[in-house]
Amino acid sequence: MTTYHLRSASPAKTRSDVVVVGALQSGKDVRLAAGAEDVAEAYGRKLRPLLSTLGFTGKPGEVLKLPTAGTISSPLLLIVGLGKNPGHVSVRRAAGAAARAISNASSVALALPADTPALVGAVVEGFDLGGYTFTSYKRNGTKDAATAANTVSLLTGIARQQAAVTAMEDALVVAKAVRDTRDWVNLPAADLRPPEFADAVAGAAKKLGRGAKVSVKVYDEKQLADLGCGGILGVGGGSSAPPRLVELTYNPSDAVAHLALVGKGVTYDSGGLSIKTAGGMTTMKCDMAGAAAVVQATFAIAKLGLPVKVSTFAPMAENMLSGSAMRPGDVITQYGGTTVEVLNTDAEGRLILADALVRATELEPDVILDVATLTGHMVIALGDRVAGVLGSDDIVGGVLAAGEEAGEAMWPMPIPEAIVDRVKASQIADLLQHDGVRWGGGLFAAAYLREFTADLPWAHLDIAGTAFNSGGAYGHITSGGTGASVTTLVQYARSLIDQ
Ligand code: BES
Ligand code: ZN
Ligand code: MN
Repeated sequence: MTTYHLRSASPAKTRSDVVVVGALQSGKDVRLAAGAEDVAEAYGRKLRPLLSTLGFTGKPGEVLKLPTAGTISSPLLLIVGLGKNPGHVSVRRAAGAAARAISNASSVALALPADTPALVGAVVEGFDLGGYTFTSYKRNGTKDAATAANTVSLLTGIARQQAAVTAMEDALVVAKAVRDTRDWVNLPAADLRPPEFADAVAGAAKKLGRGAKVSVKVYDEKQLADLGCGGILGVGGGSSAPPRLVELTYNPSDAVAHLALVGKGVTYDSGGLSIKTAGGMTTMKCDMAGAAAVVQATFAIAKLGLPVKVSTFAPMAENMLSGSAMRPGDVITQYGGTTVEVLNTDAEGRLILADALVRATELEPDVILDVATLTGHMVIALGDRVAGVLGSDDIVGGVLAAGEEAGEAMWPMPIPEAIVDRVKASQIADLLQHDGVRWGGGLFAAAYLREFTADLPWAHLDIAGTAFNSGGAYGHITSGGTGASVTTLVQYARSLIDQ
């Protein structure tokens, strides 16, 4: 367990196992960033030629470790590149890269730029997330992983300001939500089927702490049948583990707005009878990342005590093949009565989301946001580091602004009017779930979802690319589950307060 403190001490005189400072790229030159002034002074004119000889340029994510040999009080200096324009986004990433470069230190001092509460939050969040590891399935458990530091001291001139302390504490709440999201996404699908996922959410809600109160209602397959949630039941019908719908409510007495969150919780997506390729299935334990994100964002919002009512809907199903699986050509009835012709059982996310969206609209919230690993089309369009945002223009704008603040890259995508005709083109049902056309598949999916939003202010975040990092770590993003969108959702809730 790592504890974080704010201190106004000088980094050159601090005694810890390692001191972390930032470096700025300026032209062809490199210099130490704000926060490291007295370290730069201690090295004097020796530092620049040394960095130059070592080929260190200060570009984002670059890390250099220097034994200090008495130059400063700590034995090791870790310099991390901030690039050319350091703001809270690059500071967050650099702190993450630094966390991973430290292998065995029990005390760490962070002397990165942190002279505003926003920067303090970014350093803490980045460091805490960059050091994330998932070792539950390693025989030697955490012994294989780098030993996490016991104490992390963030050195800042504003250490005694309450706003800085609050920024640190709040950043740790958000970072925990992101880490817990990563844990759920990283669990193999065999160990997190819908009933277990629902139990895990209910269990976590009970143990929230910080005086946070989130109420939980779990609907099992029988109750889902009584409600008429044909989408969730249809998608979950092929699995030996029955589907669930989890609904959370955080209702503070001082609420100034009501936000509804909906997240896709497909605990495994084999494609169903419209089966995926072997390669297409390898990362499909991540298909519940949207549900994990909206649940954890709700927990964080509650722990932060934000005056925003949050109603959260997490439909959970395992998309498998069996004699009871939904068939291409079947007609299902979504919650609320809309009938749908299903032509591709691999386009399952929209079916479970539609049931949950209709339930969200019944509460008449001010805004609905849904988060889903919905389409490979969005990954083709935007790659694996940018999420697509679609929906009502002003809500999309608000989500993009929150994403910017949270350091999560997002891009607006349209829902062209002509695509609505495709969604309505079924010969035998009210709507068509999929029409076999690949072009614009991510937009078609959003158009389908919009049919279930009752024209309330709404945006859909397609995190199919960003939810899971199949490559190596970068910045504060580790391999595997990333916790994508959690920080943005919390930031979005904050933005509702200032309006
Ligand atoms: N879960 C997938 C989308 C996905 C793809 C998530 C890659 C993460 C990485 C989704 O259920 C799916 O299979 N979508 C299909 C839709 C198609 C059949 C209309 C797709 O993207 O091919
Ligand atoms: Zn899916
Ligand atoms: Mn699918």
